[in-house]
Amino acid sequence: MQKAKIAVFVSGGGTNLQALIDAASAGKMPHAELSLVISSKEGVFALERAKNAGIPAFAVPRKTFDSREAYEKEIIKMLEQDHIDLIVLAGFLSVLSADFVSRYPDRIINIHPSLIPSFCGDGFYGLKVHEEALRYGVKVTGATVHFVNEITDGGRIILQKAVEIEEGDTPETLQKRVMEQAEWVLLPRAVEQISKEICEAQAD
Ligand code: GRF
Repeated sequence: MQKAKIAVFVSGGGTNLQALIDAASAGKMPHAELSLVISSKEGVFALERAKNAGIPAFAVPRKTFDSREAYEKEIIKMLEQDHIDLIVLAGFLSVLSADFVSRYPDRIINIHPSLIPSFCGDGFYGLKVHEEALRYGVKVTGATVHFVNEITDGGRIILQKAVEIEEGDTPETLQKRVMEQAEWVLLPRAVEQISKEICEAQAD
């Protein structure tokens, strides 16, 4: 069976990438092949995780290019060379242009550590999301996997999972629980769901 070819874009520790690698080796993503990892930063642990799993992985830092256009052109070249079907943003901190995003309608997904439309949009990334959730006093937060369009965190929602706030939570404890209970569960599930749809569309 032809599988959907996946590129995972990362910038840091890569625990969501690891969740995908683990799900693939446990046979939980039968329609997906992790084919390429692109990091916006050199030397991040996500690149090690990819290499340990035998996935081709490259750092493509924005600052090594004169313009965003040149940077994105290089990324598009890599995606085309590998015949990538689906781009997964897993903690990718570099901003992609509207032009880039419009090339891949319903073919870019992102994981965000809140229940969109709460605590999302420009400036809401990393610990900031959880700090704001605690400051606001919500009793339930969670994670969302959504399609990427030209609006930050504004694309159609694919999957969501709720996580309860606990007494004494700090941004750090909440971040960890949202990852363990929601992000690492949802992302492999969403990748398999979209990959299956891609495979079925290709078979038609
Ligand atoms: C995660 O919280 C994810 O939701 C957000 O960035 C973080 C990435 O963490 N988009 P990791 O690199 O996957 O460990």
